[in-house]
Amino acid sequence: MNLSASLLVVAAVLASGLLIAGPALRRRYPVAWWLCLGFPAASLRVVRTWRPLMAGCGLAVSRKAALTVVSGLVGNGAPPPQPRVPRYGFIRPTRGGFWFLVRLLPGQVPEDFVKAAPAMAHDWEVHAVRVTTPKPGVVHISALAADPLKEPRAPKQRTAGRLLRVAVGVLESGAQWVIDLREVPHWLIVGATRSGKSTLINALVAGLARQRVALVGIDCKGGMELSLYAPRLSALATNRAQAVKLLGALVDLTLDRMALCRAARVRNVWGLPDEKRPVPVVVIVDELAELFLVANRSEKDEAQAAATALIRIAQLGAALGLYLVAAGQRVGSDLGPGVTALRAQLGGRVCHRVADPGTAEMALGDLNPDALIAAQSIAPEEAGTAVLASADGWDRARSHLVSETDAEAVAEEFAHLTPCIPELVEAVGGASVNDGPAVHFERLDGDAGTEG
Ligand SMILES: Nc1ncnc2c1ncn2[C@@H]1O[C@H](COP(=O)(O)OP(=O)(O)OP(=O)(O)O)[C@@H](O)[C@H]1O
Ligand SMILES: [Mg+2]
Repeated sequence: MNLSASLLVVAAVLASGLLIAGPALRRRYPVAWWLCLGFPAASLRVVRTWRPLMAGCGLAVSRKAALTVVSGLVGNGAPPPQPRVPRYGFIRPTRGGFWFLVRLLPGQVPEDFVKAAPAMAHDWEVHAVRVTTPKPGVVHISALAADPLKEPRAPKQRTAGRLLRVAVGVLESGAQWVIDLREVPHWLIVGATRSGKSTLINALVAGLARQRVALVGIDCKGGMELSLYAPRLSALATNRAQAVKLLGALVDLTLDRMALCRAARVRNVWGLPDEKRPVPVVVIVDELAELFLVANRSEKDEAQAAATALIRIAQLGAALGLYLVAAGQRVGSDLGPGVTALRAQLGGRVCHRVADPGTAEMALGDLNPDALIAAQSIAPEEAGTAVLASADGWDRARSHLVSETDAEAVAEEFAHLTPCIPELVEAVGGASVNDGPAVHFERLDGDAGTEG
């Protein structure tokens, strides 16, 4: 057998081996698979389709008409010069996609490329293409080969991690979705029924339960959702009357802490010495609308009191170690002016699939119109998928599937960490779940005092 015949045989064996073992290898080593096979093929597609794609999307610029005529005259029937297309740089791989930079032609703006992103995704056979502007005159085009949110892998959490920081899921980029309450202290989570709100709260509570923080629940659906974490909750209100009292007690707590900081001449609780620093309190509200909906006059006063207290907690809380996570199915401006005022204080937004555009608008509309469009295209089978937005931008993400049983087990396991805050327990008229006097806590992370 000569050399070329043996090479052919080797190639045939390799190809058939890949065909048979391919799917399993791809599942087991997705990154290696992408770098060795997927990425070269996708790069070829980019190179091959770039010119027609730019022309098809109106991003090619014709040469001057005069030049075309001259070239026709002197070129002896040679084809006229091609329109100019934007120049792209080196195509670089990432763990599940690729990116490159493109220099804009005169007269072009980044929005033209944003509009062309769906066409790019189709032509290059990738899941999604994102366009951003790193500096004037240049756009950054990044592509994701597959949707990393389809089967997000939940890492096993063994340690408590940094205080008030929890990895709750994965971002579309493949990076961890981290909720850091010290960076963004208050959150609004919206979504239609069975869209993944409780699962996200489960993931957050499962992470926070391991840390020395007080968790306080307000669940006016009779406590059906939040009572799961009862052993780890410092207080739980299950109807609006209780909620109003509990929120009032939380406002008082905020004012006490303010006096403490003033006396110590520090700007926030992180500036206090360890032995004096009060425990952080995370207030979780499930079904915000239950607090705001009114049927008669007396309910109106109650709703107003709840709204005012929530807004005050959000306004003053962050520096004083009070954090707010509020979830709701339908959070529209029809719930009253309190909701819009509260929304302005909740800087972190998570919008799952929603049933009405008003709720998506409430969650994202004031921050980012592109995020609003992305949220409205979340399909029902993608439960847990959400669009996150803050003043810095937006992202798609999916929470880790932390079931009710898992959250319940974590709450039970870490019940001994539940701080006892008597004022809050009194407000809901209940007995303390835990008698531990741990209202003060030791520093868990080295940089706790560095916050300005
Ligand atoms: N991140 C996720 N990954 C996979 N499946 C999920 C995820 N989040 C939610 N689900 C699925 O969707 C179901 C409903 O989710 P969840 O209970 O969190 O919805 P919800 O928004 O709290 O609904 P409701 O408003 O009725 O309380 C879950 O039981 C689970 O099967
Ligand atoms: Mg729920």
